Amino acid sequence: MNDAVNDRPVAVHVFVDAGYLTLADVEAPMDLAVLFGRSGAVEVEVGTGRGDFLVGCAAANPSVNYIGIERKTGVLNRAVRKSKRAGLENVALINSEAENLLANYLPDRCLRAVHVYFSDPWPKRRHARRRFFRAGAPDMLARILRCGGFVHARTDVKEYQEEMLEVFARNPLFRRIDPPPELLAFQTGYERRFTSAGLTIFRASYEFTGKTNICA
Ligand SMILES: C[S@@+](CC[C@H](N)C(=O)[O-])C[C@H]1O[C@@H](n2cnc3c(N)ncnc32)[C@H](O)[C@@H]1O
Repeated sequence: MNDAVNDRPVAVHVFVDAGYLTLADVEAPMDLAVLFGRSGAVEVEVGTGRGDFLVGCAAANPSVNYIGIERKTGVLNRAVRKSKRAGLENVALINSEAENLLANYLPDRCLRAVHVYFSDPWPKRRHARRRFFRAGAPDMLARILRCGGFVHARTDVKEYQEEMLEVFARNPLFRRIDPPPELLAFQTGYERRFTSAGLTIFRASYEFTGKTNICA
């Protein structure tokens, strides 16, 4: 779709009335250049909640495109309002189960980074398969990350952090790195609350090295 005045591509997500897309609005595989009306690096936040991280990071990095995925419309509406107030066109919000969107809608090698902050830890054993960082998560992420792309995670739950470390340690395609200091400036809503309550925040970042023949 082109802007009638400037004859340049326009981000399709800007025209969605609700302010966020649903899976009915997108095709598989998604064309991210059409979604944002431009090409360029794309990063995803899983469980974006009220959008504090996404909006802060997108405002500071206008050349990067950001997708926020959130299953609950109540909090997603808060993220929509925040993004609109900040006048951001480099943020597309999608109401979906993250795993479905990541596994079935995003094309191969399309993302520069995936951010997963304070995803639900599901502490009961019988709910373990609902955790985002379970066995299989690194392989799902390896398909959609560019070579040299990143996964960034934060949690307040030590056991969930340990499980995540184990899951990634078993996958040779990922290398643990220090979380980039410039990213730490962008806090999430939960992070602010947990930090003011004096809780410890566990952070881990990984580089997708593709140490097979995927990344030549
Ligand atoms: C604990 S909150 C954290 C919100 C935000 N990341 C923050 O740190 O402030 C987890 C959020 O992830 C969303 N969520 C959990 N599992 C999800 C999934 N599978 N797909 C999409 N959203 C999910 C929840 O609805 C909730 O808004």
